[in-house]
Amino acid sequence: FTLHAREEVGSTNDEVRLLAETGAQDRTVVWALRQSAGRGRQGRTWVSPEGNLYFSLLLRPEVAIAEAANLSFVAALALADAIKKINPEITPSLKWPNDVLVSSKKISGVLLESKSTASGALDFLIMGIGVNIRTYPGDARYPATSLLEQGGCDNLSPGDLLSAFLNSFDPWYKVWKKDGFMAIRSAWLDQAHGIGKTIYVRLPHQTLSGRFVTIDKDGALDLELDSGEQCLVTAGDVFF
Ligand code: BTN
Repeated sequence: FTLHAREEVGSTNDEVRLLAETGAQDRTVVWALRQSAGRGRQGRTWVSPEGNLYFSLLLRPEVAIAEAANLSFVAALALADAIKKINPEITPSLKWPNDVLVSSKKISGVLLESKSTASGALDFLIMGIGVNIRTYPGDARYPATSLLEQGGCDNLSPGDLLSAFLNSFDPWYKVWKKDGFMAIRSAWLDQAHGIGKTIYVRLPHQTLSGRFVTIDKDGALDLELDSGEQCLVTAGDVFF
């Protein structure tokens, strides 16, 4: 990994994009202590005061864009491993599509952005990750927590967590490149939150409710609607 450490940026995803446009290599990382314009999924804001971890990783895998989208599951797995390494008493669970939960509350988020070439192939992918170490927004859309609140992480610095993540990321990234998404899928399902339970999936104009059956071979959420019908969801916000 090539690491660029900054005190404050707008968004680490934007910094990585600039570096990528000027030819930065695969596995370039931008890490910032604060972000003044942190972004979340679906156009939301990611409030980013000092004390938490904010970084983005540039990847240039030689795959189609649709396949690269699966890397958000790789990110969640690596993050769960990093948290377990730092505090073995914490058992994280994974919330579709790419959040990590601790005690059923959101501790981190992943924002994946990609750029395609003129011919439509994948040029590069930006994996932006934020982890609540010390603080979290009280008014978050989904109940949140921090590693500090979960205990045993009083002296944890963002840099320690970043290096734990990068160490955990490598093996999962290799599994994904060598064996493809199915290997990632089964590891993700082993730690998934709410399998077999009734969940609510908020879409832009409606909310679906049904039983969370599994995720399919592409990572879509397989939902059995209350009517008995099967529904594959590719984007949405899950609530339990
Ligand atoms: C989510 O909505 O759950 C995703 C949040 C992703 C936040 C991270 S913090 C580092 C990177 N830079 C950003 O602006 N966003 C991501």
